[in-house]
Amino acid sequence: MDAVDPSPLRHFVVAKRSITSIFDQLLDFVKDGSAFVDEAWRGEELGQVAVEEQSLEMQSCETKLWTIRDVLLRRHMKVAFFGRTSNGKSTVINAMLRDRVLPSGIGHTTNCFLRVEGTDGDEAYLTTEASNERKSVKTVNQLAHALHMVPTLDSGSLLKVFWPKSRCALLRDDLVLMDSPGTDVTLELDSWIDKFCLDADVFVLVGNAESTLMNTEKLFFHKVSERISKPNIFILHNRWDASVSEPEYVDEGVRKQHLDRCVSFLAEELKVVSLDEAPGRIFFVSAKEVLSSRMQRAQGMPETGGALAEGFHERLREFQMFERTFEMFPCLKCSAKLGFKGAVSNSDP
Ligand code: GTP
Ligand code: MG
Repeated sequence: MDAVDPSPLRHFVVAKRSITSIFDQLLDFVKDGSAFVDEAWRGEELGQVAVEEQSLEMQSCETKLWTIRDVLLRRHMKVAFFGRTSNGKSTVINAMLRDRVLPSGIGHTTNCFLRVEGTDGDEAYLTTEASNERKSVKTVNQLAHALHMVPTLDSGSLLKVFWPKSRCALLRDDLVLMDSPGTDVTLELDSWIDKFCLDADVFVLVGNAESTLMNTEKLFFHKVSERISKPNIFILHNRWDASVSEPEYVDEGVRKQHLDRCVSFLAEELKVVSLDEAPGRIFFVSAKEVLSSRMQRAQGMPETGGALAEGFHERLREFQMFERTFEMFPCLKCSAKLGFKGAVSNSDP
């Protein structure tokens, strides 16, 4: 293990590598064994020391080991973001990347799936499914913005964005972020799930704190959990800055209402976590504020230079806790409780 880097995500990646090498040895052993048993039941020389069923059993072991190895070879941890149009999925990812990378805006914006991963180089670039040619990230609007005059890609296609790891610490440990079009703008939820979700390690539902969890969002996660046993789901109540305008209802009223509904959705409807664990999966944030404050800071300006609403620091802290879950997540999978709320990243002031 890397003694100077305590990031659990890093440990996860290293542990996966070690397990892969154990599976490689196992596979070699089973391949040899399978070849021997096959020869033994067919051949005369060994005097029929094995029967055909044993050979088939060995072959099926080999196939299973290949499948497990394929999963292990995937070193990254993939986090997929879903939610209704305009809830702020792309803004959340941009806030994590600390720059306005993915198209965002009012109305239906994201037109296809966008996968963001780290690159060791200093230059950001993107590629499409059709071509590995590196294009400037500036073309992302032209390719993935629904309002572009000739949107080139449809909702079932994928654009890969490579963002310098030096600009986003989270991407250093092979974290992959997947942006999606709004769950309410397609009838193709099933094919989306098969194509883009089955290999996701974590799902983030980006909700709108100004309204409530919608049926299309719930339906989507019901479909996901039919396909994947106990998916890891987090819920972000985005646009929590709106709460500032109605302080008298917010803390005891709206926040509790959202929390209760989401706890019941995760623990009782989907049954993916226990009632105790569920609150640790729910966050109240303002991605727009976090993005603008991080961009201000990157330009050497005071973070409050923009119009940040009252209570901003509390919301920023909650966003940092959410990000911290990805560093902590591999450990959490093993731990019974999400008792880590409160530990925050130190990359913001
Ligand atoms: P689609 O791509 O159309 O599915 O939408 P999306 O979920 O990706 O939303 P997007 O990030 O494009 O944000 C929609 C609009 O909401 C943009 O104008 C954002 O600036 C705004 N927005 C996003 N997050 C927040 C927030 O926390 N607070 C406020 N007030 N506005 C936000
Ligand atoms: Mg979007």
